[in-house]
Amino acid sequence: MAHFSILLSLLLVVQALAFPQHRSLAGLSERKLADIVPRMNIVKPPPPPGPLSDTSAKLVNDAAHPFQSPGNDDIRGLCPGLNTLANHGYLPRQGIVTPAQIINAYCLFILGFNMGNDLALRLAYTAILVDGNPLTNLLSIGQKSALTGPDPPKPAVVGGLDTHALFEGDASTTRADAFFGDHHSFNETQFDELVEFSNKFGGGVLNLTAATEFRFQRIQESIATNPNFSFVSPRYVGAYGETAFPLLLFVDGRKADRQLPLDHAREFFQDGKMPDGFFRANESITIAIVGGLVEEIFLAHPIQPGANQGRINSYTVDPNDPGFTDQCKGYTDFVNITVKSLYPNPQGILKDTLNTNLDYFFLSMKGTNCTQVFPFDQ
Ligand code: HEM
Ligand SMILES: *[C@@H]1O[C@H](CO)[C@@H](O)[C@H](O)[C@H]1NC(C)=O
Ligand SMILES: *[C@@H]1O[C@H](CO)[C@@H](O)[C@H](O)[C@H]1NC(C)=O
Ligand SMILES: *[C@@H]1O[C@H](CO)[C@@H](O)[C@H](O)[C@H]1NC(C)=O
Ligand SMILES: *[C@@H]1O[C@H](CO)[C@@H](O)[C@H](O)[C@H]1NC(C)=O
Ligand SMILES: *[C@@H]1O[C@H](CO)[C@@H](O)[C@H](O)[C@H]1NC(C)=O
Ligand SMILES: *[C@@H]1O[C@H](CO)[C@@H](O)[C@H](O)[C@H]1NC(C)=O
Repeated sequence: MAHFSILLSLLLVVQALAFPQHRSLAGLSERKLADIVPRMNIVKPPPPPGPLSDTSAKLVNDAAHPFQSPGNDDIRGLCPGLNTLANHGYLPRQGIVTPAQIINAYCLFILGFNMGNDLALRLAYTAILVDGNPLTNLLSIGQKSALTGPDPPKPAVVGGLDTHALFEGDASTTRADAFFGDHHSFNETQFDELVEFSNKFGGGVLNLTAATEFRFQRIQESIATNPNFSFVSPRYVGAYGETAFPLLLFVDGRKADRQLPLDHAREFFQDGKMPDGFFRANESITIAIVGGLVEEIFLAHPIQPGANQGRINSYTVDPNDPGFTDQCKGYTDFVNITVKSLYPNPQGILKDTLNTNLDYFFLSMKGTNCTQVFPFDQ
């Protein structure tokens, strides 16, 4: 017995030493947390910056931000937007946002694509709450160097933006469902299908009609092939938003016609690369702008939130999921159910930093009438 507990504490020490500062703390047992928390370099989350003052289109693939392929130790992941920003040096090329950089990077990624402040707040604080380390204020943008493959092995599985079925999820445009193994890397089969849809419905470009039909197709494909298919909030809402992003954020701001040429689509989705001479959007892409497109995409094929029941073709709607019908319930469920399930009983400094991040997340709800909720004591 004594031997066993010595072994166990040794194991816990080794695990704690091996625990990267940017690794998510979500879902860890209280015992493991108690061991890890003292080893974290604690950083009080600084207030997020406000919106850009100059929101015009401008050259962003410029001499100061040249494309460079990620090195072997650089982390890239499933978000083509974040991969692109890291490959052009708008985010740290390493793929881990450090405490000082998170503020700059935050400003810069708005700068890089002209994403609206409210949308950026929403995504950034969802990411830190679901997939980041709130104590160190660090977040990795991927799980591994998705563009260079698993060899040579990475020092650690760093668990970036990949807590499945919450933020990361199924029926993605160019990434496969987690059920099939690799949900991080660019999937050529799916991209070929996107091309096919753009030819069929967009006259050779990715336009709103092609994107809408492809969103529906990806859902139908997951229903028909993935027994584990899950399509509930917040992933549900995110999937529709991500279908609108390429039309709004990957299209050159001088054109701003919501029609993405397929060679540009491949550069962004596969290589995380801005086309030569790329200009960012000609206005800040806010939640309201994305929401307008999402409504059109959804209404063409109004699939309600739900999941397969462990078998293919068993999609069942979840009547409790607010989907697009009740924004405030969406917010409350995210805070009181999702975040709470990841951190059932946080104490001390962990509770304090979670509360601060929840306050910052709530800034993105400005413009709604939703009431702030507090899952943990203040
Ligand atoms: C803090 C900022 C951001 C965070 C935390 C974030 C996070 C994510 C995550 C977790 C996914 C994966 C969802 C999934 O398919 O399973 C994703 C997908 C995506 N993101 Fe981002 N993102 C951010 C900013 C951006 C920006 C600025 C752009 C575009 C300029 C962008 C474009 C996309 C697109 C197009 C997808 C869909 C990829 C696909 O389905 O193949 N994101 N993002
Ligand atoms: C690519 O995606 C398809 C469809 O989602 C999936 O069946 C296949 O396994 C994926 N390929 C790889 C290499 O992940
Ligand atoms: C299938 O879903 C269950 C429940 O969400 C999960 O525990 C399991 O890991 C999933 N399996 C795969 C292969 O993704
Ligand atoms: C997309 O392109 C197709 C083919 O040119 C066209 O019929 C359709 O109206 C376009 N969709 C939108 C929203 O412009
Ligand atoms: C951006 O360009 C589009 C298309 O030309 C135009 O409709 C829109 O008004 C422009 N936005 C701004 C803020 O200039
Ligand atoms: C918020 O409430 C006010 C007052 O009740 C109302 O005038 C406004 O339209 C509401 N806004 C939204 C976005 O629901
Ligand atoms: C959210 O959780 C807090 C703490 O458990 C509780 O006081 C509050 O009533 C909940 N709010 C909603 C809308 O469920």
